[in-house]
Amino acid sequence: MIYRKTALLLVALAGLAALAGLAAGAVAGWAFFAISVTTILVWHVRHLARLERWLANPLPGKVPEGQGIWDEVLGALHRLERETARREKDLGNALAHMRRAVQALPDGVVILDSQNHIEWFNRTAEAQLQLDVRSDLGQNIANLVREPEFIEYLEAARDDAVRITRPGLALSLQLISFGQAQKMLLSRDVTQAERVDTMRRDFVANVSHELRTPLTVLVGFLETIHNLKLDPQRQRDYIGMMQEQASRMQRIIEDLLTLSALDSAPPAAADKRVALKPLLARLRADAEALSGGRHTIQTQIDADTDLLGVEGELASAFGNLVSNAIRYTPAGGTVTLAWRESEQGGRFSVEDTGIGIDAEHIPRLTERFYRVDRSRSRETGGTGLGLAIAKHALARHDATLEVESTPGKGSRFSARFPARRLAAKNLTV
Ligand SMILES: Nc1ncnc2c1ncn2[C@@H]1O[C@H](COP(=O)(O)OP(=O)(O)O)[C@@H](O)[C@H]1O
Ligand SMILES: [Mg+2]
Repeated sequence: MIYRKTALLLVALAGLAALAGLAAGAVAGWAFFAISVTTILVWHVRHLARLERWLANPLPGKVPEGQGIWDEVLGALHRLERETARREKDLGNALAHMRRAVQALPDGVVILDSQNHIEWFNRTAEAQLQLDVRSDLGQNIANLVREPEFIEYLEAARDDAVRITRPGLALSLQLISFGQAQKMLLSRDVTQAERVDTMRRDFVANVSHELRTPLTVLVGFLETIHNLKLDPQRQRDYIGMMQEQASRMQRIIEDLLTLSALDSAPPAAADKRVALKPLLARLRADAEALSGGRHTIQTQIDADTDLLGVEGELASAFGNLVSNAIRYTPAGGTVTLAWRESEQGGRFSVEDTGIGIDAEHIPRLTERFYRVDRSRSRETGGTGLGLAIAKHALARHDATLEVESTPGKGSRFSARFPARRLAAKNLTV
């Protein structure tokens, strides 16, 4: 195109020059030709110079304009430049988008170059590894995460993960290679997972231990009965003791099943009404049966309210507090069941005049199998799971368990319910 246009122009000029030569002599003809070719040359050079100036500093959207064939050439360059700019913007957007996605990850991500220098990291990594965007980019990761386990892992270039601990925090770190000798360091907070793991292990150990004791006793008696000829009275005694051990195991299993049912059930809905007055009356009757007349039992109830939740769970939580009060109060003592209400909500409490609890034990009472005095708990038929069940069932009703106690004087266990779990009786018709 350019060749043809230029050739045509030159032919046209040569024709004009020849005409001029015929009319005004050869000199005039050549002069005309030379001047017009020079003009064209100057015109081209000026465009070239403008193009060169732009190329030296190619500001987007500032591609020089031109005329004639230069208009086409520069126009094409202009379109190309616009296209590139658009693609760059798209890429930039895509990159920003990816970064936002990586920022939002709950795991830490650190991008490292082949020399382990930090190129980029997300906010989670910043928090977990205590990095600082202002000072740590470009630094070697080994200078910032200095735990020996990690340094060794970094040098060994293994592809499993390594665990490091910091005060109150356990992290799992993993290096993943990508691209050309680049690496990605992933960090994950495993504190909670490890805690749950330990709890599960302890729990299994505790359960096994709790069941093993009565089982050992049971097996011992069985062997005795099997091997020895016992008189009928002894045999009856032994069978009685075996029954005791078997029921103990049964109680433990029942409590464990209750706990696991509470664990897996959805939170207690707040749409079922549990009438307090009859519930307290039943609890009182149970207390009297358990006490067998050895205690004075009182109830105080200052409002006729319905609780919102699951009756079975509330009854089991309250029932445990009541049975504890009876079991840990010597004969002659008093146990008081009370319901009090205020603007903030309601409080069910069980107060006794029993043996009380040393302050050091109070925070641990709701742990599974925790007992202040193992043998006393066992003798009275306890499993050590009652308060764990109670706390759990209460939590599902947005209630908290509070314990106040004076050793030798008595204890008060209270379940505090927020106002939204109460429904005044007189609102129902
Ligand atoms: N009213 C109370 N007075 C004194 N100690 C109590 C009382 N209630 C609970 N405890 C202590 O808390 C421990 C845990 O209670 P719980 O979980 O119900 O187990 P359990 O009653 O089966 O022993 C009891 O073993 C006992 O040491
Ligand atoms: Mg109990």
